[in-house]
Amino acid sequence: MTWEDLRQALGRMGGDPGGARFFRAPGRVNLIGEHTDYNLGYVMPAAIDLEVHMACEPHPSFHLRSHRRRPEAKFTPGDTRRAGDWGDYAKGVSLQLRPPGGLRGALEASLPPGSGLSSSAALEVLIATALNTLYTLGLEPPEIARRCQRAENEFVGVECGIMDQMASALGREGHALLIDCRSLDTEPVAIPRDMGLLILETGVRRALKASEFNTRRHECAEAARLLGVPSLREATPEIIEKHRADLGPLHPRARHVATENQRVIEARDALRRGDLEALGALFQSSHESLARDYHVSCPELDTAAEIARAISGVAASRMTGAGFGGCTVNLIEARRAPEVTRRLALEYKRRTGRDPTIHHCQAAAGAGEVLPDTGIDA
Ligand code: GLA
Repeated sequence: MTWEDLRQALGRMGGDPGGARFFRAPGRVNLIGEHTDYNLGYVMPAAIDLEVHMACEPHPSFHLRSHRRRPEAKFTPGDTRRAGDWGDYAKGVSLQLRPPGGLRGALEASLPPGSGLSSSAALEVLIATALNTLYTLGLEPPEIARRCQRAENEFVGVECGIMDQMASALGREGHALLIDCRSLDTEPVAIPRDMGLLILETGVRRALKASEFNTRRHECAEAARLLGVPSLREATPEIIEKHRADLGPLHPRARHVATENQRVIEARDALRRGDLEALGALFQSSHESLARDYHVSCPELDTAAEIARAISGVAASRMTGAGFGGCTVNLIEARRAPEVTRRLALEYKRRTGRDPTIHHCQAAAGAGEVLPDTGIDA
């Protein structure tokens, strides 16, 4: 779909095609720093060029139509009833931003919903960015991310951290973003030009994902309480070993978080030095820690990462996102993308019986308004 198609779609909804404004928000892939954001630690995601797009105009109420999602979302500003569908993300965001009016918008996406690439966060950030711009609310991107996270925590009921919304709101082209989830300070880290991001969707989605996710979050809060620290960010691996007995069954969870925080910083340094060998080792330890200590991997994710590591041209591979299915992220030599994709797909199918979806992505800029005539972000 082109921006022009979206303009026409807005017209079919009763909007004024001539007055349409255009917005985009990217999905994200996390390079490293998994399940550390809600422990106020470090993460290093990149926004990717799989996105959600919208042509829209200010309108007294909300009327949103997506070519990917049904039904249409229609509600009035201030409406607090949950509908149990995708419109709840927009409703939650509007309740957090409280703009003086609503939005009529036609949406489309190259970002597949439900794949583990943060389509929900991209949708939230898209709506928030449009409202912020059209109603001149004056919110800076980190504040947009914070409000979107709150919408998801309080209205939709998923206790996610802030990584996905931060990546979608603040991404930088060609860069990953080191985020300190306590201060929300960000540091762009260049991805070498000759490297590419290959994302493999395992095709596995576990129904219990949201409840398992919330359980992990509570386990971490309990571990921090037992250690007497405000969050696991404050606990080093040494402190955690010292309190092994006090932590009991929560010890491996806390160990994952503390060691993962260190790996993020080491991965940033390795990326800076162009040390792909070190990066490969860090990705592998992260994956193993998530599988063994945090228990959020699954056989398909383990297999996909194992296969990738044996393919020449792949520098680093691991599961990415919440886990329980979803995707692996692979840092590869960009020029070998077609060959690596072919080998990965064949071997994954042979070993798991599943057809994977593989995306070759570039690190993209964060959400914003687009001037389609120039193809340039406003
Ligand atoms: C999901 C959440 C994020 C983060 C990751 C795990 O994507 O939305 O906030 O916790 O899982 O790193």
